[in-house]
Amino acid sequence: MDLKDQRKVYEKFELHEESVKHNPFDQFKNWFVDTKNSEILEANAMTLATASKDGKPSARIVLLKEVTETGFVFFTNYTSQKGMDLAENPQAEILFFWDALERQVRIGGNVKKISQDESRAYFDTRPPESRAGAIASPQSQKIESRAVIEEKIKTVLAANKLDMPEHWGGYILEPNYFEFWQGRHSRLHDRIIYELMEGHWKVGRLAP
Ligand SMILES: Cc1cc2nc3c(=O)[nH]c(=O)nc-3n(C[C@H](O)[C@H](O)[C@H](O)COP(=O)(O)O)c2cc1C
Repeated sequence: MDLKDQRKVYEKFELHEESVKHNPFDQFKNWFVDTKNSEILEANAMTLATASKDGKPSARIVLLKEVTETGFVFFTNYTSQKGMDLAENPQAEILFFWDALERQVRIGGNVKKISQDESRAYFDTRPPESRAGAIASPQSQKIESRAVIEEKIKTVLAANKLDMPEHWGGYILEPNYFEFWQGRHSRLHDRIIYELMEGHWKVGRLAP
């Protein structure tokens, strides 16, 4: 497979130090609003990159479910690969690629579990089948077959025991770094960064 000719020109927008928001959360919100008027189907789908304590990386998509004053919340199985990585190394990065806007956002920071009450408040809003799936699926473990899980889910639904299990809940990534990337012509992209220094966000620019 030769993809060398696959090349797109980026030219829709520009990004400048003078026009970005002082606070990167506000900048994120502005760009997120833009996704709503675009053809992006799941703007809240983000790549979550984690690493084990000995540095083995892994990445996967999860859904952003809330942006609070302090961070970015997603939900998952605490015993999954990502859960195990985060237990031994809480540093992670989340990444959004909004192709219709020619934009990428990278957000790095430390991850911690949210409270069980906060997780439960969201869990209880999920459809019964999703709750049963979260209860029945030992996420990221090898299983015999799809049928085994389907059977387990049926049993859980029949018993109507849909309380949030211990192994499931939310995490919040509390950022110390943001990069807003805007594609530009001739690969001279704009890369505006925010670094958290002594409690203040410092804006800078990276070379493309
Ligand atoms: C669009 C999309 C959304 C997803 N959302 C989630 C999510 O919110 N939480 C989750 O645990 N897995 C989600 N997944 C599945 C993960 O990508 C992954 O397969 C799973 O979490 C196991 O990852 P791990 O073995 O690295 O822990 C999503 C996958 C896709 C493609």
